[in-house]
Amino acid sequence: MENINVDTTVQALPRLGEKAPDFTAVTTHGEIKLSDYEGSWLILFSHPADFTPVCTTEFVAFANIHDELAKRNVKLLGLSIDSVFSHIAWVRNIEEKMQVKVPFPVIADLDMAVAKKYGMIMPGESSTETSRCVFVIDPEGIVRAMIYYPLSTGRNMDEMIRLIDALQTTDTHKVVTPANWRPGDKVIVPPPKTHDKANQRLGEATDEGYECVDWYLCKKELK
Ligand code: BEZ
Repeated sequence: MENINVDTTVQALPRLGEKAPDFTAVTTHGEIKLSDYEGSWLILFSHPADFTPVCTTEFVAFANIHDELAKRNVKLLGLSIDSVFSHIAWVRNIEEKMQVKVPFPVIADLDMAVAKKYGMIMPGESSTETSRCVFVIDPEGIVRAMIYYPLSTGRNMDEMIRLIDALQTTDTHKVVTPANWRPGDKVIVPPPKTHDKANQRLGEATDEGYECVDWYLCKKELK
């Protein structure tokens, strides 16, 4: 019998700021390649198993933010180590019992090929289920954020949208965002990286209307 134990030494872990690992996968919407998402943001997320309670609440929640994400040019792609028939049956059950259509594709990663490339299996939790992982991949195919949650804890959809808004704000305005930032809040001006620029920052702050605690922590309104 084939050994399905996952050797963690062969599980890769994507890195922030680097190209997302390529894949071709069987999904509920047919064969999908990562490159199909070029030009769009992608939230690739894994769940432990179909027909499980926390995962079901998450699928409903992801389906409910689908339209908000689409407004931001973000697509969703789910994954678990289940067959495509199981995915189809579960999605149909969600629609029947909860009146929620699941509009995004779900990868049937039975050979764990994608899960291993993305380090989605945490053998300390389970060697046959993917943990609750989220990879935010930008339109150029770069990994921009990763979130890992345990089997026990359903994810927060407000945070998915907040994270996308923060990343897109950073790209558009070349700023960074503080703790608990939400659209409309002040953003942080990237801190100076030389002694001279540090000396100039507080003077510049008055000209630019920055609100500074000190040279390294200045905020501004986005116009
Ligand atoms: C759940 O989705 O309810 C679940 C899945 C795997 C382990 C624990 C909970």
